[in-house]
Amino acid sequence: MVSEAASLLVVGIGQLVTGDPRRPAPGVVEDAVLAARGDLIVYAGPASGYHHQLGPDTVELDARGAAVIPGFVDAHTHLVWLGERSEEYALRATGATYEEVAARGGGIRSTVAATAAGSLEELVAAARERARRMRRLGTTTVEVKSGYGQTDEAELRQLQAARTLGAEPDVPDVVATYLPLHGPVDGDRDEYLEGVLHDGLPRAGRLARFVDCFCEDGAWSVEECERLLLAGRAAGLRPKVHAEQRSRSGGAILAARVGAVSADHLDHADDGELHALAAAGVTGVLLPGASMVLGGPPPPGRRLRDAGATVAIATDCNPGTCWCESMPLMVSLAVATAGLTPAEALLAATSGGAAALGLTDRGRLLPGLRCDALVLETPNWLDVGYHLGADPVARVIAAGRLVGT
Ligand code: NIG
Ligand code: FE
Repeated sequence: MVSEAASLLVVGIGQLVTGDPRRPAPGVVEDAVLAARGDLIVYAGPASGYHHQLGPDTVELDARGAAVIPGFVDAHTHLVWLGERSEEYALRATGATYEEVAARGGGIRSTVAATAAGSLEELVAAARERARRMRRLGTTTVEVKSGYGQTDEAELRQLQAARTLGAEPDVPDVVATYLPLHGPVDGDRDEYLEGVLHDGLPRAGRLARFVDCFCEDGAWSVEECERLLLAGRAAGLRPKVHAEQRSRSGGAILAARVGAVSADHLDHADDGELHALAAAGVTGVLLPGASMVLGGPPPPGRRLRDAGATVAIATDCNPGTCWCESMPLMVSLAVATAGLTPAEALLAATSGGAAALGLTDRGRLLPGLRCDALVLETPNWLDVGYHLGADPVARVIAAGRLVGT
């Protein structure tokens, strides 16, 4: 019998989705209690095993039979951008490909032009709106990439914006990623890469936790990406790779070779590449919204799972391939298009996302972990994916505190 004076106590939970790997996925406990002291979980289990001890400061919430799940960890976003690309969206709907639009001066290049010209305040304001929407939809941790700067100054301003945003209230916890090899650069690309290695990386190392690259025909080659990732690793930034998104680019094998924390997209990866990721302990991050918008092959959720890899799903929130803040929608799409079961998809959106960010302190509802949790509108956790396009979140708990309304 656990009896600890909690600072937050959620009682009346019909289904508590713990993500406990010792239970059948996704680790559901019925008629449960969730208790936190400070930002950590002290109890997550059957009500019968918890002796209520209310202290003078205990906040108590009755879930009235609703389900409670871990907060979403959105492990791949490009949240800091200015401008918009609705014309491109409409153009692609008439048959123009992502590459054709980019060749006409649209694509990443057009977002770079708008974003690189923005002040820190403008960048933070634009990202704030999206980040707040994310948290209302249940995201408690979000990864935010640079990539729309393409000069050292502008890239670092994007990282600074991510950091500034992360210190604000009402937004998810922010993890920043330096993505200096993204769109095409004006001028000499070797010179740009040298500048990134010698000037950008040491400065980015103080602002970001990860280094990332867009490894793709028409973007950056395996060799260029490898130079960046190895130098980044030496500077203390863990590698990530945009791999096999639009074609088989070699990015997945590169991710395995450099011991990346994640390989992202993977739509064109073959089974051998997925096995290589699993063997190297690289988490596969699927972006089912971008896959749907761009109309390529389905995301390889089933094949990744069968290869034995850890799978994450994320929004990819960006102005080109997926303007979406909703992790519940990604759960729906992962089940509908990536071959994941609802339990696998929910775990991919929570503990899988945490794995893709190298975070061992969150993503599941277990004692000792950060208490990031969502009280749903419904008694059935399956409704997260089943109810398409809905907002299934009634209350958000972030670091042990009830937030928002
Ligand atoms: O993850 N693939 C590269 N980067 C983004 C798209 C960025 C953009 O088009 O602005 C992605 O899909
Ligand atoms: Fe991306």
